[in-house]
Amino acid sequence: MSAVATAPLVTRRGEPVASLWPLDPTVVHLNHGSFGAAPRETVASRARLLDEVEANPLRWHLGVGPRREAARRTVASFVGAPAERLAFVPTASAGTTAVLRELVVGEVVVTDHAYGALAKHVVLQARRAGAQVTTVHVPLAADASITSAAILEAVGPRTRLVVLDQVTSATARAMPVEEVVAGAHAHGAAVLVDAAHAPGMLVEPAATQADAWIGNLHKWACGVRGAAVAVLGDEAAGRVRPPIESWAGDEPYPASFEEQGTADATAYLASAAGIEWIEERIGWDRIRAHQAALVDYGRELVAEAFGALTGEDHAVRVGMPSPAMALVALPRGLARRPENAARLRQRIADELGFETQIASWGGEARLRLSAHAYTVAADLERFAESAVPELVRWGRSMADV
Ligand SMILES: Cc1ncc(COP(=O)(O)O)c(C=O)c1O
Repeated sequence: MSAVATAPLVTRRGEPVASLWPLDPTVVHLNHGSFGAAPRETVASRARLLDEVEANPLRWHLGVGPRREAARRTVASFVGAPAERLAFVPTASAGTTAVLRELVVGEVVVTDHAYGALAKHVVLQARRAGAQVTTVHVPLAADASITSAAILEAVGPRTRLVVLDQVTSATARAMPVEEVVAGAHAHGAAVLVDAAHAPGMLVEPAATQADAWIGNLHKWACGVRGAAVAVLGDEAAGRVRPPIESWAGDEPYPASFEEQGTADATAYLASAAGIEWIEERIGWDRIRAHQAALVDYGRELVAEAFGALTGEDHAVRVGMPSPAMALVALPRGLARRPENAARLRQRIADELGFETQIASWGGEARLRLSAHAYTVAADLERFAESAVPELVRWGRSMADV
């Protein structure tokens, strides 16, 4: 089967969507997954808010409460959570740090797909709390039922916490959150869902049945940097302390999380405004449909382009693939050692002009491609035509890059 191209996305008024993002036009951007990218309008909205702060800092800080509250309601409705259970946190890591500090006791179950920084914190916190960590291997190709069975098999009477990604970073796959939460709860274990990639990528992704769900707004929701959300269940809300203790620390959740000293709230306001602006101008459902079509196109096109030159199969079988990111197998000889993945990514950016991700997992490095509203089929075609032959050539040379 040959890949079918998709037309560039246009706004509801017919403008090319790609023109609304301030991305460097001399580079092809195929790595939305790492740090997101905000449209010009959202970036400008934050700049206007920062001007407002500096024009009268006292008035800003005394008056920001109701505006943050309105932003909280907007984001809660976007992710599908009750507003009274959602709080802003500056980054996903701030949210998961706050949760792990309180919920790591007894035994903790994580998977080998967990985001590296989070996995490190689980180990650190377990050491502090005298807890045990069990890391479950989930095969890349495992479907929902094999995945949940593998995870739940590791959940025993001493397990107090299961940590699960909703969409994984290195393996670009989804996880069966609902099944794992139900199974963990049946054993009396709480569940922390790392949903850094979920807002914007998935429709109303908040796993409200989980004890804690943490999502980033700057990635797929195209907010600005420094904006993420926590959604806590009742029990976790009573135990988890805000990442920064401040004046509201003795208020009930989520008020306890809302005031973080003089920390900058402009990212929350601008990200919420950006989410609404994107809906009005483009439409989130239209974006998700575009992403899914382009990712399927890119995955097939790039794997075929590699295969035509290497004679090998470059398709990667992923159970529950993410709808906006795809993995493709690299030619043999590239990034054989995981520590070379970052060097290879940098070389592709510097020498070939493509921002991509080289994701190492299970002893293998793979190409991870992302698509968002601004991505066009021609970006992927350029990668297949110009970057793929170079990568095959690099793979055949003796140097491991
Ligand atoms: C799956 C996953 N979890 C957590 C994070 C951490 O997010 P942040 O850097 O905003 O704390 C990331 C960031 O890329 C991620 O991909």
